[in-house]
Amino acid sequence: MKLDIATTPVVDAYQMLVGLVTPRPIAWVTTLSATGVVNLAPFSFFNTFGANPPVVVFSPTLKRDGGKKDTLINIEANGEFVVNASSEKHAELINLSSKMIPSDESELALTHQATIPSSSVQVPRLADVAFSLECKVIQIVPVGNGPISANLVIGQVVTMHVDDDVLDAKGQPDPRKIKAIARLGSDYWCRTQDLFELGRP
Ligand SMILES: Cc1cc2nc3c(=O)[nH]c(=O)nc-3n(C[C@H](O)[C@H](O)[C@H](O)COP(=O)(O)O)c2cc1C
Repeated sequence: MKLDIATTPVVDAYQMLVGLVTPRPIAWVTTLSATGVVNLAPFSFFNTFGANPPVVVFSPTLKRDGGKKDTLINIEANGEFVVNASSEKHAELINLSSKMIPSDESELALTHQATIPSSSVQVPRLADVAFSLECKVIQIVPVGNGPISANLVIGQVVTMHVDDDVLDAKGQPDPRKIKAIARLGSDYWCRTQDLFELGRP
């Protein structure tokens, strides 16, 4: 089949794209509103793109009604966010935290997640996660302006917190311990249990 994007409805292109570009890691993002409400939401338009300085990018798209998501509003206001780990044990809560609730309510209460203060940003991080990346915004790049259009939030990782229990004997992250989950298309998610190793040539 062939999809000509110019004549394809946005939602159809979206569903095809997220079914093809897989698996996508999930950033479980905390942000802080102007009135002090901690917002928590998952984003699978997410990855890391370099290490000097360490950089992550994720995209809170515009809503179907064209409005901005709380996460984007908060980041535009104070330029800070925390990427928290998405592990298997939290799958249902990560999903639950994507629920649209009023801006003055926190998904922390909905998901019963506790936070602890961050070191370098005002936004708190989740307490019960394998790792948290404290980030300061370098740039926000809007791409398009209609429903599901991207807003590339480019963040510099200023502090990393890693639970010692997910490190191996050499102090490196052990995927068997992090148990990351990721998004595929439709309602599919995946675990990271079927590992294999390849040395660099
Ligand atoms: C696993 C998962 C991944 C998601 N990835 C994205 C994403 O990359 N971009 C996006 O805009 N919404 C994504 N969503 C939907 C948002 O989490 C949802 O719109 C949420 O309500 C946004 O919260 P906020 O308005 O508090 O920022 C995802 C949802 C789930 C369950």
